[in-house]
Amino acid sequence: MMPSLFAHYVAGLLKDKHADIVELGCGNGRDSVFFSKQGHNVDAIDQCYNEICFLINQYQHIDNLDFRCDDFTDLVDDEPYDVVYSRFTLHSVNKEQETRTLEWAYRNLKKDGLLCIEVRGQKNEIYKMGEAVDNEPDAYIYDNHYRRFLNFDNLCDELKKIGFSLDFAAEDKDFAPFNGQNETYIRVIARK
Ligand SMILES: C[S@@+](CC[C@H](N)C(=O)[O-])C[C@H]1O[C@@H](n2cnc3c(N)ncnc32)[C@H](O)[C@@H]1O
Repeated sequence: MMPSLFAHYVAGLLKDKHADIVELGCGNGRDSVFFSKQGHNVDAIDQCYNEICFLINQYQHIDNLDFRCDDFTDLVDDEPYDVVYSRFTLHSVNKEQETRTLEWAYRNLKKDGLLCIEVRGQKNEIYKMGEAVDNEPDAYIYDNHYRRFLNFDNLCDELKKIGFSLDFAAEDKDFAPFNGQNETYIRVIARK
């Protein structure tokens, strides 16, 4: 399981620090496993029960890595983190859930902590493909997948309104080339 380019990028920002990281929507856990191997303390959350059971069993020997089955849009407040990491997950939830997640991230970050987001935006090549979802602007079902494509400017404005400053924000290619394709994604590093 190769970690994503985004995980490498975020690890580079943390340098020698041993950070407390929470990953929202960890999927097969590849980025959380990578962060733990870099010496960070990682809480990895996903709603997929079977995957989390497998990951708990597979990685029970690693002390600084905890997997948990939960809905990341509905988390209770926790011990504050240095990093809230969300890769390819915010386009899986509706607008209200997105806002709740961004606000949770702000409350649950230490001062100077980082919210690290990679997500599909409206410059993404499959924007508007498939069937539009009723009463949900910019959301489509394509290939049996729900995706809501975030507006880059609105996301940046919302983060600033919540209280974040933006260390980095762009919607561009080269963030996540995959299988010979180089689609356009949003990448944001927001600081509390
Ligand atoms: C496209 S995968 C990305 C996985 C991983 N972040 C990566 O980049 O490899 C999206 C993941 O988010 C999870 N997810 C989506 N909505 C969620 C929610 N509300 N709560 C927890 N997990 C969620 C899905 O189960 C899935 O594993």
